[in-house]
Amino acid sequence: MKLEQVVPWGRSLDEYAHMFDLSEAELAAAQILGVGDGPASFNAEMHERGRRVVSVDPIYVFSPPQIRARVEETHDQLVKAASEHHDLFTWRHLRSPRHMGQVRVAAMERFLGDFERGKAEGRYIAAALPSLPFADRSFDLALCSHLLFLYSDQLSDELHLSGVIEMARVAREVRVFPLLGLGNVPSPHLPRLREELPRRGCACEVRKVPYEFQKGGDEMMVVRSSR
Ligand SMILES: C[S@@+](CC[C@H](N)C(=O)[O-])C[C@H]1O[C@@H](n2cnc3c(N)ncnc32)[C@H](O)[C@@H]1O
Repeated sequence: MKLEQVVPWGRSLDEYAHMFDLSEAELAAAQILGVGDGPASFNAEMHERGRRVVSVDPIYVFSPPQIRARVEETHDQLVKAASEHHDLFTWRHLRSPRHMGQVRVAAMERFLGDFERGKAEGRYIAAALPSLPFADRSFDLALCSHLLFLYSDQLSDELHLSGVIEMARVAREVRVFPLLGLGNVPSPHLPRLREELPRRGCACEVRKVPYEFQKGGDEMMVVRSSR
C-alpha cells in the first residue's frame, strides 16, 4: 500500500486514548499537545469534556470548506486502498473499509464543528514539525499519531529525528504511534532514532498499546528529554 504524500485523515478521542494508552487520569489532568492532529476529533471531544488540548497541523491555514474537500478526496482514495489491501488490517473496531470511511468522516465533521472557535481560542495552530511555536516544557504530553514512521518514505530521517527532539523540547513526554510504515513495513527510521535519541539526551522506549488496526501495529514510542 503506497501514498504519494501525507493525507489528512482523522481519528477520535476513543482511538487516541487506545493508541497512546492514555489513562483517565492523564486525560483529565495532562496538558496535551497534538502534533499533526489534522481533522481528528480528539481536540473537539476533549473540549466537550471541558479539557483544553492544543493541536498543530499545517492544514490549519485552510478554510473549513478547503479542509472538507481535501478529506473527501482522501476518503475515496483510502477506502479504495483499504479494500484492495483488506488483509493488512484488523477489522474489529472498524468493521470494513466503508465503515472506516464513515467513522473518519464523522470525526472530521466533529472537528470542523469546533475548528473556527478553537482556532480563535488558540487550540488549533497552523504549524509543522520540525519547528513548534512553544516555549520549552509548555506541555506534559505531546502526541503524534499517524505521521512519523507511518510516512517513512515521504518524511526524511532528519525530519523524524529533529521532529521528535522538538516535541521533547516542548513537552515532558512524547508518544508516537504507530511505529509501522504504510503497508505494515517496519520503519527504517525507528532503529536510527532508538540509537540516536539517547545521545541527544532523550530516553526512549517502545511500549505495547491496546490498539491495533494495521496488523502488528500495536506499539508506541515514548520519549523523555533529560535536559
Ligand atoms: C494521517 S493524518 C493524521 C491525523 C491525526 N493525527 C490522526 O491520527 O487522526 C496526518 C496529518 O499530519 C499532518 N502533517 C503533515 N506534515 C506535517 C508536519 N511536518 N508537522 C505536523 N503535521 C504534519 C497532515 O497535514 C495531516 O493532517
